[in-house]
Amino acid sequence: MGDLATLVRQTLDEVAASTTLAALDEVRVRWLGKKGLFTEQLKALGALPAAERPAAGARINEAKQALQSAIDAATEKLAAAAIEAELAAGRIDVSLPGRGEARGAVHPVTRARLRIESIFRNSGFEVASGPEIEDDFHNFEALNIPADHPARAMHDTFYFPDGRLLRTHTSPVQIRELRKGRLPLAMIMPGRVYRCDYDMTHSPMFHQAEGLVVDENVSFAHLKATLQGFLQAFFEKELRMRLRPSYFPFTEPSAEVDMSCVFCDGAGCRVCKHTGWLEIAGCGMVHPNVFKAAGVDGERWTGYAFGMGIERLAMLRYGVNDLRLFFDSDLRFLSQFGAA
Ligand code: PHE
Repeated sequence: MGDLATLVRQTLDEVAASTTLAALDEVRVRWLGKKGLFTEQLKALGALPAAERPAAGARINEAKQALQSAIDAATEKLAAAAIEAELAAGRIDVSLPGRGEARGAVHPVTRARLRIESIFRNSGFEVASGPEIEDDFHNFEALNIPADHPARAMHDTFYFPDGRLLRTHTSPVQIRELRKGRLPLAMIMPGRVYRCDYDMTHSPMFHQAEGLVVDENVSFAHLKATLQGFLQAFFEKELRMRLRPSYFPFTEPSAEVDMSCVFCDGAGCRVCKHTGWLEIAGCGMVHPNVFKAAGVDGERWTGYAFGMGIERLAMLRYGVNDLRLFFDSDLRFLSQFGAA
């Protein structure tokens, strides 16, 4: 009994030295557990004379309680420290500067398309689109290009085994819109087209914008004014435009649209191959056979149509000299175009 004080000091030292909850628990079991050293002491009370037992028992219990509260206090402290450590490890420093964010850009072809759409919308055109997988009827037959027509050879068509095809131009959308029978109409129809062709100036997939206006008394003069107005608006420049007689099976008469070169103003440069002119679109008056195939009364209605390459317009507007840049997905190129 005499060394109870020493025992207590020893246990308190052990508690103080415990740096983990597991170590603390070990101390508790060793001293206070069923086979703990204090329990042994209590059992040993029986051997004392009856008169000494109460005082000795009280001292042992006091020592036990002192130890228990020391363990409790240390447990609380270690648990709190563990929570602190956990919080510190997962801490987010909200005062750190951000990593910066890369701002997306609109693809130059999309940008040109949106520009085309908005210019035509502003003059009363509706925007429409059609499927990229077409059938022979819409892509050729209804456009006055029968099976044996030599114009088919110019189209370098991708065919599916079932006879369907990837549309070679946006003109089939003319047929789809006309067959809806809602006249008069004024539409701009942009979209992807496909031709089996690839070099500096040709890509197997590219974009066109088809224009179609059908009303009573529509004339070639309307077509010319519309194209001239569009080019002026698109390039924000005074431009000269000329129409060269040409041939398309689905228009009659047909013309090729040239505009004065945006780079040299018509003086002649590399871009316009020293002609001063840039070819920009095909156009003409809707052919009677097209109206017939689409179920439109060609006696009552007349119309004009045109088709232009969106990449070509984008190249001229943004000063891009290689068509392939549009399809390489190189962010160094694409990010130069910023937001729309
Ligand atoms: N579809 C023609 C082409 O792809 C362009 C065009 C459209 C010509 C409408 C006349 C009228 O070359």
